[in-house]
Amino acid sequence: MTMRALCFLSFLVFAIHGTRAVEYSVTNNALTTPGGVTFRDKIGAAYAKQTLDSATQFIWRVFQQNTPADRKNVQKVSLFVDDIHDMDGVVAYTNTSNDDIHLNARYVNSNSGDLKTGITGVLYHEMTHVWQWYGNGQAPGGLIKGMADYVRLKANYAASNWGKPGEGQKWDQGYTVTAYFLDYCDSLKSGFVAQLNKLMRTGYSDQFFVQLLGKSVDQLWRDYKAKYGNIP
Ligand SMILES: *[C@@H]1O[C@H](CO)[C@@H](O)[C@H](O)[C@H]1NC(C)=O
Repeated sequence: MTMRALCFLSFLVFAIHGTRAVEYSVTNNALTTPGGVTFRDKIGAAYAKQTLDSATQFIWRVFQQNTPADRKNVQKVSLFVDDIHDMDGVVAYTNTSNDDIHLNARYVNSNSGDLKTGITGVLYHEMTHVWQWYGNGQAPGGLIKGMADYVRLKANYAASNWGKPGEGQKWDQGYTVTAYFLDYCDSLKSGFVAQLNKLMRTGYSDQFFVQLLGKSVDQLWRDYKAKYGNIP
């Protein structure tokens, strides 16, 4: 191989690596609790780190955040396993001021199904909170949470206790209700969720639905409910 080719190759490796230089850390603060021990023995820091990275790659694809300019400037994501007892049975939460994800050891201890799959799904949901845009604080909280479950759904990590498509009272009810509704919207126009997220970089308006799909969000919700045989 010529020197020139070698130089080019190392440039390429650097360029590819440079765009993916997100650092991950995993800290288990709950080793004195059953959930913390279960996390150590059944999940492990290595698997958790690898999952944080694959979630990031997946989210960038779903949101079509192909270059660093499309993404939040996040250098490091830290996962903590904590014994959280003062937040009413919370599974996990993400602090978007510092990109820390907190997983509740009590949830790890109570998760009955396939533990590894369940935790992986939770990490995909939380990692979406790291990368998604928040409409400058104006977006409905239910939409934000619904987008995170949409990513989880698309990654095939929907939990077995999730409801079915077509359920729910309001489009922005959040979590799985909104996730299935967004999936319906994306079926009308592939890439819809990515486009919506892009628009949410600087603000939020329900008009984004009209802009992208030619119908109001309320009309889309009625169409969606009708498709599943529910008259709203
Ligand atoms: C979120 O992170 C900020 C910055 O580190 C910190 O001041 C704040 O207390 C954190 N909030 C929660 C709920 O952990």
